[in-house]
Amino acid sequence: MHGIPSLIGDGGRVLDLVGVGFGPSNLALAVALREAGAGLACRFLEKRETFVWHGNMLLDGSRMQISFLKDLVSLRDPTSRYSFLSYLHSQGRLQDFINLRTFYPSRREFNDYLAWVAADFDDLCDYGLEATAIEPARAGEAVPHVRVHARDRAGRERSWLARNVVIGAGATPRIPDAFDCLVHRGGGAGAGPLVIHSNDYLAAAEEMAQAGRVAVVGLGQSAAEIFLDLHGRGIAVDIIGRGPAMRPADSSPFANQVFDAGYTNYLYGLPPAERAELLRAFHNTNYAVVDPDLIDAVYGIFYQQKVEGTARHAMLTRHEVVAARSGSDGGPVLDLASLDGGGRHERRYGAVVLATGYRRRIHEELLQPMEPWLASGEVGRDYRLPTVPGCTAGLYLQGCCEATHGLSDTLLSILPIRAQEIAAALTADADRGRGQQIRTTTSAQ
Ligand SMILES: Cc1cc2nc3c(=O)[nH]c(=O)nc-3n(C[C@H](O)[C@H](O)[C@H](O)COP(=O)(O)OP(=O)(O)OC[C@H]3O[C@@H](n4cnc5c(N)ncnc54)[C@H](O)[C@@H]3O)c2cc1C
Ligand SMILES: NC(=O)c1ccc[n+]([C@@H]2O[C@H](COP(=O)([O-])OP(=O)(O)OC[C@H]3O[C@@H](n4cnc5c(N)ncnc54)[C@H](OP(=O)(O)O)[C@@H]3O)[C@@H](O)[C@H]2O)c1
Repeated sequence: MHGIPSLIGDGGRVLDLVGVGFGPSNLALAVALREAGAGLACRFLEKRETFVWHGNMLLDGSRMQISFLKDLVSLRDPTSRYSFLSYLHSQGRLQDFINLRTFYPSRREFNDYLAWVAADFDDLCDYGLEATAIEPARAGEAVPHVRVHARDRAGRERSWLARNVVIGAGATPRIPDAFDCLVHRGGGAGAGPLVIHSNDYLAAAEEMAQAGRVAVVGLGQSAAEIFLDLHGRGIAVDIIGRGPAMRPADSSPFANQVFDAGYTNYLYGLPPAERAELLRAFHNTNYAVVDPDLIDAVYGIFYQQKVEGTARHAMLTRHEVVAARSGSDGGPVLDLASLDGGGRHERRYGAVVLATGYRRRIHEELLQPMEPWLASGEVGRDYRLPTVPGCTAGLYLQGCCEATHGLSDTLLSILPIRAQEIAAALTADADRGRGQQIRTTTSAQ
């Protein structure tokens, strides 16, 4: 698998921790470890060249969907110097922000806050390196360590040896099957019809403005935000969704309690079937739903075009894309089926944006070489994957434990608490390791 000889990333020494990904989850962990004075030897690997939080969705006017009080640290330690309030103070904007009278900063400002914290941890993160595999590093029959392989843009490989790995690599775009036969462009110029995922939106927005009518597939928050952005650029849009309407996110206070840190304990303690039932019951707090203010804005635009007697944008709810292909002019052509009676028709576009959500499978791919060492059973309450006896290397997950730990797991909601819990597990592991070393040394004397 690793044909090119691998350089040893950290001089061949065994690290306490390699973190894969340096988004908010592993950044919160880096902060928690530093503030706990854990003294662990760690490195984080981030495939992007610099810190950025969903950069292709930093749209004009897009706002946070969570209170700024749920920043990287405040739930754990409101006095931390890495809080959002501390950031505002450092930028000389604390009073100006107070005058805004909001809990929901713009996504651009929150991105700037996260980047401000990340800059303080530059010494711990290697940017521009994509982790490609996590392999067992054996010592006889035992696996005390893992080797984390990574590659830079030039194809050069490096690897690190570590006692623990924490995967906080986020998600990958969910592409509907109908689009399998069309080249999915990663944003920017390229060959084939202009079909992109919302994850690549801003990189392709300029090109899209020249392309003609755009289809936005999906009825969630990304779809609504992209519709408003395209409208602002003067582009005609069809919104295509399987659901009956654009529906509001339930952010009412009792429902919001599912994002409280204590809820993780409650949910984790339930049998799997009951957990699944609760996840379904609260699905509309997060998935395929839109902020109510945004729904009003979208509706207002559709109403205004009625007033003006134009039909620039179309809302094609209860429609499924059954096939997609390249038209004679090179643009995407979609076959749409109505879910009310099954009638089909074809529509031609200049571009398509798939605002169809995400999948969380990066950890499965990275951990494939560890397969023989993974035990059956679910991830632990401390986010550690169960391993077979003999494998003492720690494999931890951040952001892919929704089924066991609840809807907050993919969000920012409980980052500081989760980071604290994982930091505690890592520190305990390091202490055990040091204890063993001392015992071995003492008995050898
Ligand atoms: C547009 C958008 C807006 C959102 N807004 C909110 C919000 O307002 N509130 C909220 O609570 N949640 C929001 N979310 C949910 C989002 O999942 C979290 O905000 C947050 O990004 C989770 O952090 P993370 O570190 O787990 O994942 P990410 O932020 O996705 O970070 C993962 C990092 O890992 C890197 N990576 C991936 N694979 C590798 C690899 N193999 N090697 C090295 N690095 C790798 C990625 O480049 C990325 O930087 C939003 C999601 C989207 C898509
Ligand atoms: N400003 C912000 O803070 C902001 C902005 C954007 C996103 N986000 C967050 O990011 C996360 C993801 O939001 P999202 O809007 O990208 O995704 P999402 O909520 O998962 O919504 C995906 C949409 O795509 C549809 N879809 C999925 N597969 C499809 C298929 N095969 N064919 C047709 N339609 C399909 C879904 O419809 P079905 O219901 O029919 O499956 C749904 O309407 C959420 O947590 C959200 O809050 C936040």
